[in-house]
Amino acid sequence: MQKLPDGTLLFPDFLKKQEQEQLVASVRDVVKRAPLFISTMPKTGKPMSVRMTNCGTLGWLSDKENGYRYQAHHPQTGNAWPPIPDQLLAIWDELSGYAHSPQACLINYYGTDAKMGLHQDRDEQNFDAPVLSVSLGDSALFRVGGENRTDKTTSFKLNSGDVMMLSGKSRLAFHGISRIYPGTSMLLKQGGRINLTLRRVTEL
Ligand code: SIN
Ligand code: MN
Repeated sequence: MQKLPDGTLLFPDFLKKQEQEQLVASVRDVVKRAPLFISTMPKTGKPMSVRMTNCGTLGWLSDKENGYRYQAHHPQTGNAWPPIPDQLLAIWDELSGYAHSPQACLINYYGTDAKMGLHQDRDEQNFDAPVLSVSLGDSALFRVGGENRTDKTTSFKLNSGDVMMLSGKSRLAFHGISRIYPGTSMLLKQGGRINLTLRRVTEL
């Protein structure tokens, strides 16, 4: 097993198949109420290749005019985001080591050609809590470095059912998804990958 950066914690196969199926069903319920949408890059307006939605009291999104941010409502329906499923709150309680619940769960859907460029998760007011990520469906190549964009990076696969946390010294590490490996999981009928990231957003 390769050495991961300090604070990058991987829990391979954390969710059994049946737990993954249950979580996919919950994500489908969220998506019915809060449809997937495409965020665009600040300033350039370039569309991201992932489609996204959120659950929780706050949801993350980005657009050309107002940039990266959290807000309490869906950008198209104007409705509050649906609540975070209990199954995810239980994973947070078990692994995060943080006494307060997550406020945001970003749901990213990657089609077979989607990627995510190197970035930091730094739109939160509080970096004490980890960012906890759950992967479902096709495997992906995850890349993580340090707090500077040019720091050396380490790459490893995230498979369906894996949980990963960026905590402590890795909380502000640059990270991204280099590629998806199509056909590596049967979990999602239409293929592709779902990533769920739980975050604490505000100061207590
Ligand atoms: C993200 O950084 O928002 C998503 C990472 C992932 O898809 O694993
Ligand atoms: Mn991120």
